[in-house]
Amino acid sequence: MKLWGGRFTEETAQETFVFNASLPFDRRLYREDIEGSLAHAQMLTETGILTPAEGDRIRTGLIAVLEDLERGTLEFDETAEDIHSFVEAQLTARIGDAGKKLHTGRSRNDQVALDMRLFTRRRAREIRALVLDLIRVLTERMEQHANTVMPGFTHLQKAQPITLGLHLGAYAQMFRRDCGRLSDLLVRMNECPLGAGALAGTTYPLDRSAVAQTLGFDRPTANSLDSVSDRDYLLELLSALSILMMHLSRFCEEIILWNSDEYRFVEIPDAFATGSSIMPQKKNPDVAELVRGKTGRVYGDLMSLLTAMKGLPLAYNKDMQEDKEPAFDAMDTAAACLGVFTAMVRELSFREDVMEKSAARGFTNATDAADYLVKKGMPFRDAHGVIGHLVLTCIGRGISLDELPLEDFKAASELFDEDVYDAISVKTCVAQRITEGGPAPEAMARQIEDLRAWLREETPEE
Ligand code: ARG
Repeated sequence: MKLWGGRFTEETAQETFVFNASLPFDRRLYREDIEGSLAHAQMLTETGILTPAEGDRIRTGLIAVLEDLERGTLEFDETAEDIHSFVEAQLTARIGDAGKKLHTGRSRNDQVALDMRLFTRRRAREIRALVLDLIRVLTERMEQHANTVMPGFTHLQKAQPITLGLHLGAYAQMFRRDCGRLSDLLVRMNECPLGAGALAGTTYPLDRSAVAQTLGFDRPTANSLDSVSDRDYLLELLSALSILMMHLSRFCEEIILWNSDEYRFVEIPDAFATGSSIMPQKKNPDVAELVRGKTGRVYGDLMSLLTAMKGLPLAYNKDMQEDKEPAFDAMDTAAACLGVFTAMVRELSFREDVMEKSAARGFTNATDAADYLVKKGMPFRDAHGVIGHLVLTCIGRGISLDELPLEDFKAASELFDEDVYDAISVKTCVAQRITEGGPAPEAMARQIEDLRAWLREETPEE
């Protein structure tokens, strides 16, 4: 059934119908569409635009359609153009003329704006909860590895010794900001567009605030034209999800590197790896690679919607129907990635011995050796030069700084003494990095406590 046949004399071409239809993908909005219609009908009844009897019939009819869809006894009928036409046709088939009154004071333009907001709000909250789960797991793993020494890298070259706890904590902070971005956009988008009509409001005395309140919005949107034209809340979500995916992807890249035979820092449990059809020895980090790959897809979703919107005159244009597939795809992809990634991180086994050994090679303690001289009175720039020469000597002999005999240290500067060995052991290097936010045990304990306190605040009471 069509919602608009009156002014036409010829039939729609089948190609046009199929090309124009959105039911194949917007059927996912059925719950939100019915929820919005229930709120609209209730308000129409309360304001006297519909009689109580009509309101009742509409309500019962909509609930029956919802139940049948949930139960699977009602199928989406491909002759409907979109989810809005489908629900209205079902309603009218069930309750007759009262069903035709549901659309009073409403347009599909404000209806779809509402449905998409309701759907996005629900999914964004779910995704946010998944990010919180990940941070919770990371916090546990940080605590387990607060004292696991590993090399920190810059330029993918060993730089200074850190702990695995600090490394995991870096990601925890990134995901915490991702949560913040989701919270921010959830607040900003929580306004109800219903009542904007096609673009210019309506002539009926609608109570927009009542509908907004019924549907859990903070208030109605302020401008009718903006209400039906705006998709920037979706763009904010896709941006936030792109950044979140970028963080996941970097983490995955490191897990892939660390799982290689060259690093051997981590063992991915069999449950999260796959084999090769030809090479019997292989165990591949497919989960991490797929998350890294799917990141590109979410960026693509953001780009398609940005591009679809960039030249549109106000208000509604059919181009905007193209918001749904990328938005759904990005939400589904991010949620799927978060679920499996968190499960994998919970089970990763880190090879503490390999990490520690790796930290001890590659002169990660050279800065600390220079600091040793500085603490004994040498200006830092001079100390940098002295240690640089000693590193060169060690490279020539194939040894590390702490394997260099004391006489070689003393020949380079009289300030060196027996205590240099303790000062440049990787354990000391880490323990002395006491700056707020650093890897020393007390500094890490504060980071963990701070994350826990934040998680407690963010987790709604059961
Ligand atoms: N399926 C349409 C969409 O998703 C619903 C709005 C239709 N409005 C219109 N004026 N044709 O955008």
